[in-house]
Amino acid sequence: MAKIIDGKAIAAQVKEEVRQKVAQLAEQGVSVCLAVVQVGSDPASSVYVRNKKKACEAVGIKSLSYELPEETTQAELLALVDDLNARADVNGILVQLPLPKGLNEEEILDRISPLKDVDGFHPQNVGCLSVGKPGFVSCTPAGVIQLLKRSGIAIDGQECVVIGRSNIVGKPMGMLLLQENGTVTVTHSHTKDLKEVTKRADILVVAIGKPRMITAEYVKEGATVIDVGIHRGGDGKLCGDVDFDSVEPVAGAITPVPGGVGPMTIAMLMHNCLTSVALQKKISV
Ligand code: GUN
Repeated sequence: MAKIIDGKAIAAQVKEEVRQKVAQLAEQGVSVCLAVVQVGSDPASSVYVRNKKKACEAVGIKSLSYELPEETTQAELLALVDDLNARADVNGILVQLPLPKGLNEEEILDRISPLKDVDGFHPQNVGCLSVGKPGFVSCTPAGVIQLLKRSGIAIDGQECVVIGRSNIVGKPMGMLLLQENGTVTVTHSHTKDLKEVTKRADILVVAIGKPRMITAEYVKEGATVIDVGIHRGGDGKLCGDVDFDSVEPVAGAITPVPGGVGPMTIAMLMHNCLTSVALQKKISV
């Protein structure tokens, strides 16, 4: 029987810490403000954006909402980003992905000031992460590190295997585990004999985007398994990249879906809004 890592409870802890720090800043006359930009009306994006705004409200962070029509042009979106970059009252900028077809995502993300890039997607912040300088870290992998640390799972010296090499999760996840002195392997679709590699893992982070792909055969007895995936199954239920029922009896600890990594992403976004104030005002929070 694996220990179930309760992402909801740990996210609540992180958000409570952020709420207290936001309140302390308010006493010093410093406010925290996040601008959230959504282009078009993708239903999943609308849910994420709504949850991000709700989390802001719960921790005392002001949120500004920009809901732009599907037909918004690249120039219009760039102009909005420029405007938000220039505003002293806006600390963080988040452009919800995916953007509608026809918009150049990379150009938009690169235009966000690296000091306001609460998603941690700007190449400057990715570079800071890789050399261990202060900056923004992508919320989902940062959330995974908090899940491990706050569950008392050691990373130092452990075999860590990440499945998936996306810019948002897999690559920064590898960097963060390395920073924590893990021995890190990042696997992907060209990896030969994936099972042989994943079976070595003390900590297995799965971010492949394929429903229930990882079964007990991929997992070493007693390993910690972190499931970053989220999918709506044919039965209407949510599931992850990990086949929970197959892996849970083998694993030492495991995150459920929902209620594992998901809530941590938003909690770390709130944390990153604090980081934005710290970076902009050169204070520690
Ligand atoms: N779409 C899905 N996840 C994310 C995220 O973490 N940030 C942004 N901006 N868009 C997303």
